[in-house]
Amino acid sequence: MKENPIGLFDSGIGGTSIYKAVNKLLPNESTIYLADSANAPYGPKGREWIIERSIINTELLLEHNCKLIVVACNTATTNAISILREKYKVPFIGIEPAIKPASLKTKTRAIGILATKGTFSSELFMQTSKLYCSDVFRVEQIGEGLVDLIESGKLNSTEMTRLLQKYLKPMLKANIDYLVLGCTHYPYLIPQLKQLLPKSVKIIDSGKAVAKQTSVVLNSHGLLCENDQNVYHQFYTNGSLDVLKSVLPQHQQVDFLNF
Ligand code: SIN
Repeated sequence: MKENPIGLFDSGIGGTSIYKAVNKLLPNESTIYLADSANAPYGPKGREWIIERSIINTELLLEHNCKLIVVACNTATTNAISILREKYKVPFIGIEPAIKPASLKTKTRAIGILATKGTFSSELFMQTSKLYCSDVFRVEQIGEGLVDLIESGKLNSTEMTRLLQKYLKPMLKANIDYLVLGCTHYPYLIPQLKQLLPKSVKIIDSGKAVAKQTSVVLNSHGLLCENDQNVYHQFYTNGSLDVLKSVLPQHQQVDFLNF
């Protein structure tokens, strides 16, 4: 069981930012990654639909004997993780926007949050923001269109720059000093964001915290892999192979799977 892979799924290629953090911290662990790019973005879809897709992805990972599943998608986490935990025995790790650390560290008492409509409207997000940042001014911005551009390989396009400028404008006006990336696709935008933001604004994503939590949960279940023999990483997408390959190391094989 210890040598079984960790499963990760996302609405597309964004969760590879989480895969990279997990792989860096836990190099002995094998992984299986599912990019549900054919159905991206999840953000504007309804809760029932997101739960249905999350169940399909989970069942597929369980067929591959995954010992733990990382829901490497903020929208799927905030809408479906409680259902998944009730339905399956395997441990689940979710991704939530890192609003708690941003709220604790902000000096200007204003933070920006970039996430999907599905994340902002979820019960889990509302509860977390009430609990941790009721005394902080939050500029909540839906990143409409960003995932579509990333999934269609237009990460470095003028369309992307224009959208980011539009979304950052109210945040800059509010004098934010922290920008929370509440979608696993968005860490791929960090180079552009850094060019558009003053140096005083720090960008926070959830990768490291999720990797740490994965390690803690594996350890507490006695599931950490203790040797580095036969480690493998499999990537499956029901969308473009080239787009998924573009965010992975060159030698990494990617396969098409209809799910
Ligand atoms: C999306 O599919 O809309 C974004 C995924 C996420 O919230 O991480």
